Amino acid sequence: MGKTVAIEIASPDSLPLDDTDYVRPAIPDYLEKNYWWAYLNPRCVEFFEHQWVVNLILWGNFSFLRDLALAEMGTEINGRTLQIACVYGDFTPKLAQRLAPGARLDVVDIAPIQLTNLREKMGSGPNLHLHHQDAAHLRFEDASFDQAVLFFLLHELPAEVRTQALGEALRVIRPGGKLVVVDYHRPSPLHPHRYLMPPIFMTLEPFALDLWGGEIADWSPVDLTDFSVDKSTYFGGLYQKVVIRRPDH
Ligand SMILES: C[S@@+](CC[C@H](N)C(=O)[O-])C[C@H]1O[C@@H](n2cnc3c(N)ncnc32)[C@H](O)[C@@H]1O
Repeated sequence: MGKTVAIEIASPDSLPLDDTDYVRPAIPDYLEKNYWWAYLNPRCVEFFEHQWVVNLILWGNFSFLRDLALAEMGTEINGRTLQIACVYGDFTPKLAQRLAPGARLDVVDIAPIQLTNLREKMGSGPNLHLHHQDAAHLRFEDASFDQAVLFFLLHELPAEVRTQALGEALRVIRPGGKLVVVDYHRPSPLHPHRYLMPPIFMTLEPFALDLWGGEIADWSPVDLTDFSVDKSTYFGGLYQKVVIRRPDH
């Protein structure tokens, strides 16, 4: 697919950020080359930012998968939650609705246009904080979040970045805190999507197939021996939820 449209790079002043005193990350090559049509082009952002579109991409399972992740995070969410990368549709609004008084949600993304889009979608509020950061190099302190969520990000990352992002997500959650991952998974051999998805991935999502090749935990650079790792699969195994909980000590 040829890249024909210039990518919008917002100026630092026009970005709706809560922290601006650092060198902002550049758009990585893998994103610009493979996902400009999904996340960087303004007209495409407008198109994808519809519930029915994201639902179609997930074969009608968007709300189900969103609610799986949210249920794991709690009906009333306390403390600090980190959403690593923006998500189209009502994922973040529904997450924000669950915040208890005094709780806060931080969202990072590497694409300025995605942060601008999220701010337009959410408006401003004291409990929502947006950050222009790379998931592979988060600028938060160790153990500074009660939980973090990665919703369909890992399959879009090249292997090395995926490993770094997982390591960073685990670094910033506190002892006893958890990381919730929802993403693709290799379906059982009897499921039609086992054969339908590879050509789609090879055309549109070049890093997704190798996520199928192993367990999410295998990508972790952190030794997970003392962590609890719970995996569940859905829709014939096309999707998975993995919850990684840090030990208390
Ligand atoms: C969460 S993923 C996929 C979400 C899902 N397909 C949806 O329904 O929107 C997409 C987001 O990840 C962001 N992203 C990609 N690489 C990133 C990185 N290294 N750091 C932070 N955000 C990143 C993109 O800019 C995009 O906003």
